Amino acid sequence: MPLNVTSAKAILFDLPLFFNWQSTLDVLKDPPTEYVEKVQPPVDLLAGLDDISARVDDGSIASEYGFGWELYKLVGAAHDGHFAYILDVVGQIFTFSRPLPLVSVSEDGSKLPAVLTTARPPEFLEELSQQGSLQDRDALYNNLFYNLAQISLQSAGSGTGGFSGGGRGRFAPPGANTTLEFANGTTLTIANTARTLLSFANVTSGEDLRRKIIYDEGSTVPSVRPNLITPVSRDTIPSTQAIAPPGYPAPVVAGPSNLINGFYIDGTGYEDVAVLQVPSFISSSFAEAPFQAASQNDLFKQLFPALDPYGANRFRYNEAVDLVGQAFSGVASQYPREAGLRNSTLRAVQSSYFDYHTDTTVDGKPFESWSQKVGPISVNGQYYTALSRWNLTDIYIPYQAGINVTGFSNLTRWKPEDIVLVTDGYCASTCSIFAELMTQQGGVKTIAMGGRSNANKIQAVGGVKGANIFQWGFIQTYAAQAKQLNNTLRTSALKEYDVGKAVGRSYADGINVRDAVRLGDESGIALQFKYEEANCRLYYTAEMTVNAAAIWKAAANAQWKDSSKCIGNGGYYPSNAKRAAQGKTTTLSPARGYQVHGVQALRQYEALEGSFSVETEYQRDAGDGFMQP
Ligand SMILES: *[C@@H]1O[C@H](CO)[C@@H](O)[C@H](O)[C@H]1NC(C)=O
Ligand SMILES: *[C@@H]1O[C@H](CO)[C@@H](O)[C@H](O)[C@H]1NC(C)=O
Ligand SMILES: *[C@@H]1O[C@H](CO)[C@@H](O)[C@H](O)[C@H]1NC(C)=O
Ligand SMILES: *[C@@H]1O[C@H](CO)[C@@H](O)[C@H](O)[C@H]1NC(C)=O
Ligand SMILES: *[C@@H]1O[C@H](CO)[C@@H](O)[C@H](O)[C@H]1NC(C)=O
Ligand SMILES: *[C@@H]1O[C@H](CO)[C@@H](O)[C@H](O)[C@H]1NC(C)=O
Ligand SMILES: *[C@@H]1O[C@H](CO)[C@@H](O)[C@H](O)[C@H]1NC(C)=O
Ligand SMILES: *[C@@H]1O[C@H](CO)[C@@H](O)[C@H](O)[C@H]1NC(C)=O
Ligand SMILES: *[C@@H]1O[C@H](CO)[C@@H](O)[C@H](O)[C@H]1NC(C)=O
Repeated sequence: MPLNVTSAKAILFDLPLFFNWQSTLDVLKDPPTEYVEKVQPPVDLLAGLDDISARVDDGSIASEYGFGWELYKLVGAAHDGHFAYILDVVGQIFTFSRPLPLVSVSEDGSKLPAVLTTARPPEFLEELSQQGSLQDRDALYNNLFYNLAQISLQSAGSGTGGFSGGGRGRFAPPGANTTLEFANGTTLTIANTARTLLSFANVTSGEDLRRKIIYDEGSTVPSVRPNLITPVSRDTIPSTQAIAPPGYPAPVVAGPSNLINGFYIDGTGYEDVAVLQVPSFISSSFAEAPFQAASQNDLFKQLFPALDPYGANRFRYNEAVDLVGQAFSGVASQYPREAGLRNSTLRAVQSSYFDYHTDTTVDGKPFESWSQKVGPISVNGQYYTALSRWNLTDIYIPYQAGINVTGFSNLTRWKPEDIVLVTDGYCASTCSIFAELMTQQGGVKTIAMGGRSNANKIQAVGGVKGANIFQWGFIQTYAAQAKQLNNTLRTSALKEYDVGKAVGRSYADGINVRDAVRLGDESGIALQFKYEEANCRLYYTAEMTVNAAAIWKAAANAQWKDSSKCIGNGGYYPSNAKRAAQGKTTTLSPARGYQVHGVQALRQYEALEGSFSVETEYQRDAGDGFMQP
């Protein structure tokens, strides 16, 4: 498909308008040293756009796909699971796969994990794993492989792993064949596959294909295209429990669609261990209530009812954020806070971040004006809004969360040492917020599974730690609403957002609009850029790849029986959590249920990742949790 330079230039003009809302835009250019050493290299996104623009001008980017792929790689280099821009031609024509999932396992739980026992695969696979959206390299590596928790998520998960075309693995063309070389010297060549997502009938040239997929004046694509990230519909969410996923025992307490399940472990010595498995923090708009019913909680508050969740966050300051806030706060201030309960137009305004009455200061006090909330505050040379925290008793919280939160009391229900958080590194977005509360405020320890073939310590939370994703269309909508609410803004910088080329040609997109910032952290560094090792690392064994209970047993043993099982450190090292933080008990009214804020936006993260999953027709082999792709 020859590149339409006019169309490409229009997209390149739009992109900075959206990139400006990415909370980590400045820091990504020059991240903290430890992040660069252990996590990912720097990336200058705006300079990257200039570079692509120059290559469009000089003709070295000459095809639609080449253009889309360069944009995909640039955005992917941020390794932020909330930040995505996938052009139609990259996302909508083919998905690629290798019809063979891999695992990386240790023979006995202490020998180095290996894939095919030759030396070369780890290097190749480590490089391949960088195609993923996570930032942590061990989590990225894990995500290449067959993993029961991902399988349990069905189409919302990453299928049989990135190597076999699951999740983000589906976008990069793998070539015609994959050749595996075994330790004994024999090789096996398998043909890779490309699945077409549209009919190629009558498509005989790149121009034909372009007309079929790209919406512009020369195209035959209908002008109103459906939103490609379609939320899971109510019909597809079974109100009752799903059947146990492969590799798992029957749950004792079953949640909706295997999104949350409670188990006991069969076997002597594990009678007092219970497992709460949460492969995803709610991927649909309709599962919150059954999710809550299964866990009898919103997880952190029920486990630690006496603690006041911190959860501070901030936007990157940019003029558009400020102008939208001026318009929204200006209108909201003309009505009582509860007026929007009866008027849905007003509700959208009064329940948004952009009304300064929403949220509290870090000290739990009301903001007094939009200018107090928006700042800008200079932190390490960059500009942000003031830190804010959710007001969990706010009357609009129910409209954001869909549930009333239980878990108010000053009882200590669990001692931190009686809980351990076990992850495979794919803990991102909502999960990272949960893990932050559990470890920093709850004082709970973590165990990280798998990782690259080495004996180093690894991180438990390897996915995006940003606190809020917006789809790009949201930003356009906010800008349009602001201009509607306040006429004087029509001629402001917000008018730039009227253009729609980048959004119109997007297959999928997202922006991380809020940094999460740690309680008591004076460094001003967003959690996204913090490198933090788990308290314990365990290798996968072959059994763990087909039987989840083997993971739970190993974790329970390491936590409560024999910490020398942890790789690389001869046992647990102390938790970094500041237990002092626990002293602060809740200031929220105890009698009343309240609801978690932020879910509305957070669930879009799950939808975004889910939309990337390979479509797989699984065949369940009898007896264990292995499924053929
Ligand atoms: C792929 O494998 C097939 C069968 O072994 C072989 O005929 C073909 O030449 C290979 N293609 C490439 C590009 O290596
Ligand atoms: C070499 O190893 C592979 C994988 O374990 C096995 O399938 C194959 O039979 C072996 N070949 C020989 C000649 O032992
Ligand atoms: C392909 O083109 C033929 C001839 O113009 C037409 O009859 C047919 O409907 C087209 N098929 C599709 C799928 O567009
Ligand atoms: C190229 O894109 C421009 C702008 O969208 C459009 O007006 C024009 O028709 C396109 N040209 C072709 C050949 O599709
Ligand atoms: C509209 O926006 C302008 C410019 O930000 C501001 O000065 C004015 O107070 C706003 N009007 C209202 C009604 O909020
Ligand atoms: C709802 O509130 C908006 C102000 O945001 C106002 O313009 C509109 O008239 C109100 N609608 C009703 C039905 O009161
Ligand atoms: C939180 O919201 C409630 C209900 O809207 C309000 O009464 C309370 O003052 C708010 N708290 C803060 C600190 O703004
Ligand atoms: C939350 O609690 C209020 C007051 O008890 C109730 O009216 C409302 O229906 C509850 N909402 C949900 C989603 O359960
Ligand atoms: C907290 O515990 C104390 C003593 O057990 C009790 O008197 C008090 O009412 C409790 N407060 C709340 C908010 O539950």
